[in-house]
Amino acid sequence: MALTLSRRQFVRNAATLSLLPLVPRNLWTQSASASSSAQRVLIHPDVEIGLVRPELHGHFAEHLGSCIYGGLWVGKNSSIPNINGYRKQAVEYLRELGVPVLRWPGGCFADDYHWRDGIGAPAQRPKRVNIHWGGYVEDNSFGTHEFIGLCRLLNAEPYLAGNVGSGSPRELRDWIEYCNFPSGSTLAVERAANGSPEPFHVRYWGVGNESWGCGGDMKPEEYATLYRDFAVYCREFGGTKPFLVASGPSGADVRWSRGFMDNLRGAQPQGLSMHYYTGGRDHATDFTPEHANDQLSLYTRVEQAIVQQRHVLDGYRDGQNVGLILDEWGVWDRIPPDDEKRYGKLWQQSTIRSAVAAGLGLNIFNRQADKLYMCNIAQIMNVLQSLLLSDGPTGEHCVRTTTYHAFSLFKPHRSQRAVRIEAENSSPLGLSVSASKSDKQLVLSLVNPRGDADLQVECTLAGSSAKTGSAQILHDQDLNAYNSFEQPDRVVPRPHPVQVNGSKVQIDMPRLSVATVILQTA
Ligand code: AHR
Repeated sequence: MALTLSRRQFVRNAATLSLLPLVPRNLWTQSASASSSAQRVLIHPDVEIGLVRPELHGHFAEHLGSCIYGGLWVGKNSSIPNINGYRKQAVEYLRELGVPVLRWPGGCFADDYHWRDGIGAPAQRPKRVNIHWGGYVEDNSFGTHEFIGLCRLLNAEPYLAGNVGSGSPRELRDWIEYCNFPSGSTLAVERAANGSPEPFHVRYWGVGNESWGCGGDMKPEEYATLYRDFAVYCREFGGTKPFLVASGPSGADVRWSRGFMDNLRGAQPQGLSMHYYTGGRDHATDFTPEHANDQLSLYTRVEQAIVQQRHVLDGYRDGQNVGLILDEWGVWDRIPPDDEKRYGKLWQQSTIRSAVAAGLGLNIFNRQADKLYMCNIAQIMNVLQSLLLSDGPTGEHCVRTTTYHAFSLFKPHRSQRAVRIEAENSSPLGLSVSASKSDKQLVLSLVNPRGDADLQVECTLAGSSAKTGSAQILHDQDLNAYNSFEQPDRVVPRPHPVQVNGSKVQIDMPRLSVATVILQTA
């Protein structure tokens, strides 16, 4: 995590930077910094943290509200413009952003989903009750083939969440064979008859979801036993080795992770999935400044939880080989019942506050790039902190939310190497910063979560300098500003002035803003 420096310490360190090839984590002591409009940041382009895996910008789609039905999937006969049933506008926006990985079909839904219900002729598919999300009748018209079709349209890596809660090892084993076995087995022949002679090559497989809660209400040792029972039958087919993701803790619960790891007896997963939502006390478009501060302050805890979970895993033999996955994250505000009735369950607006929250999260993922394997925001469309919103199952409108735009600002970091930063004030509502580099460029992301202070930021590039730079900013003075169907482009990234002078970079960060600066270094 970034350190908090007093102003005097910061100036002293900036002066001696050239003498420091590597900066140890605790070089400077923590101290509270007075609220100030000027902020300094040290960037260490030579101190690499790790690769910013594109999967840190991953997504999640559940059979919940209007995420799938009426959101991403409108059906082939819909009057809403579509590409083989997928909402055209959504596909276009998401292709533009890039979706590295997409997790499906849940969430809680996954542990009551039986994949065979979603294959074959749509009219013949069984109708089931979605017991988790409102008891509506799920007609299964969107199933495995439709999901893989969406991933192909988006160029996204599919990630299927298997059913442990009400399913069986055999059911999951068969789903993997159905998806990945090249040809000749009854399941592969069935896949071909359903339109896909080519295997799907699905690599990521979740083994249950929230097994401590909606996915079975288990104790960690009970889940570890079940995990082993399932994992032993999850096999490589056609050269696609499954990457198994075990159900991890809620938030910072290290007791769950230890209890699970202690009882595995060798069946170690490739990934462990933690979930961390940052709850909000108000409706999304009606936040008080105080409640916004409370929510945004929680990101310090998210970062601590990631560090703690990594630490727990690293404590086990071969534990460093288990990828830590933040499988569900984002703001979960109070949801107005009228919005849910109109647009679907957990339909939530995204405001500049949500974009700031997204920026705080994405900055954390850069800073902790060596500890994380994948992060999937909840959810991609029409549910919780979504990237896209449509106006109900029959509505033609589809807007890019402020969260979409925050993600687009972080896109230049993908596949770069995250580098070390030190912020003068890393208290929960201090300026949040991260940086990454490639051969020719250094990318900085800055987030000002304060609703009451504009910041003039000066960044010093330690042992490096930039030739030119450009910046884009997402900002609104109004804490509750959002992109509506009437005003879809109210909050969008705009070019923003940045002064580059050798190793000094200066940028103004108005209250509630997210900015990315791209510096040419070669
Ligand atoms: O994203 C909504 C729900 O939140 C998911 O179904 C579940 O995994 C979590 O509790």
